[in-house]
Amino acid sequence: MKLWGGRFKQDTNELLEAYNASIDFDQQLAHYDILGSLAHVDMLGQCNILKAETVKTIKYGLQTLQQKLQQNKLEFKLSDEDIHMNIERMLHEVIGDTAGKLHTGRSRNDQVALDLHLYLREHLTQLIKALNELNKVIVDLAEENIDVIMPGYTHLQRAEPVRFSHHIMAYFNMFHRDTQRLMDSFKRVNISPLGAGALAGSGMPIDRHYVANALGFDGIYENSLDAVSDRDFVAEFLFNASLIMMHFSKLSEEIILWCSQEFSFIALSDEFCTGSSMMPQKKNPDVAELARGKTGRVYGSLIGLLTVLKGLPLAYNKDLQEDKEGLFDTVKTVEDTVVIYTAMLKTMKLNKEKMHQAVTEDYSNATELANYLVKQGVSFREAHKITGNIVMHCIDNNLYLNQLSLEDYQNFNPNIKESVYISLNPETVVEAHRALGGTAKDSVFAQIKNAKQRLATVIACPDIVIPS
Ligand code: ARG
Repeated sequence: MKLWGGRFKQDTNELLEAYNASIDFDQQLAHYDILGSLAHVDMLGQCNILKAETVKTIKYGLQTLQQKLQQNKLEFKLSDEDIHMNIERMLHEVIGDTAGKLHTGRSRNDQVALDLHLYLREHLTQLIKALNELNKVIVDLAEENIDVIMPGYTHLQRAEPVRFSHHIMAYFNMFHRDTQRLMDSFKRVNISPLGAGALAGSGMPIDRHYVANALGFDGIYENSLDAVSDRDFVAEFLFNASLIMMHFSKLSEEIILWCSQEFSFIALSDEFCTGSSMMPQKKNPDVAELARGKTGRVYGSLIGLLTVLKGLPLAYNKDLQEDKEGLFDTVKTVEDTVVIYTAMLKTMKLNKEKMHQAVTEDYSNATELANYLVKQGVSFREAHKITGNIVMHCIDNNLYLNQLSLEDYQNFNPNIKESVYISLNPETVVEAHRALGGTAKDSVFAQIKNAKQRLATVIACPDIVIPS
């Protein structure tokens, strides 16, 4: 008989049993469900709602289940619908009828919300730490390759040369903002909904703060209807996760381009590439392609949840059971992506010659030629036009800017001197960009120095306090 079977005359149709069950996926909450129950039963004892003896028995049972869970020995049953009823049935198997007292002053509605907060809190902590590790690797890459210059692009057309370190530090900034967003969201995740009951609050003289403190929460939901129906914190996480994946997807696109034969700017380690079953020469950048591809499913989970929530009246509705699979899938997808990307970037090699060749065999120093003319007293607009004419002349004659004779230069403008060739060097060009945030060496070093301080400011969120 079902836990809720008292008012039913007929058995549940087996179609509904399968349709309704969430145990296939919410068993991931088992650890948090037991943790929450341990705090809840403790509180019931403190508030004299349950006798000390009863509390002791229930805690013994819950701890037994926690051990069994660690040994992978819990047997979940579809007929028990979800994680909460499975745990209660298993508790009954260990301690008998006393198990029936655990659910005093609580509903599955506040219980499931509590489990989700505990689950997400722990994964936020892990993800924040993992992103910081990724960012350390990015800073190392920037520092080790400070002298490597590559083409910078706009419209995917060669624009101006930049240091590779400057380019990769752009991603440091994106991932650092992602980390800060997760840290900021922690305060909205770290509040306890338990004690909201089914919807109206609990009719028992419970102490919600006791449970919240025992579980390391910073506070409690102030409105019971809100507590059982809020999934903002999940949607916010899915949005933050979507931004993280979007950043990975952009980086992936670049990595895929860079290791193509056309670019050949980088080589990924064999460890992080796959081959083709037919074409023996192939070495494919699957990690980057998968990260780019998986971004789609993370966006899907965000849109999925927002759509689930948009029409729901207060308070709990079974639609809310649909919050979990997208969340679990997203947590795994993002965590896996951060971890594998960290390892892949650690072993990535730059093809410095190819990058250097690319910046010497293009016209990305044209802006600097215009700036050279400006320094000789020509207005920028005039300098832009003259340089455009010079570039066109060079393209027509199969020359790069540093191959044009001084005589030809002076035909375009008599102010151009021998010194022009120095200013056309890619090294000179990048060093000219020394304004704050630019690609000159000192500026990039300043970014790196700052980044190291910022890495140290990432505070790992507190670990869960297990009630003893
Ligand atoms: N499995 C449910 C969920 O995930 C738990 C809450 C069920 N509450 C209820 N009143 N049926 O949302």
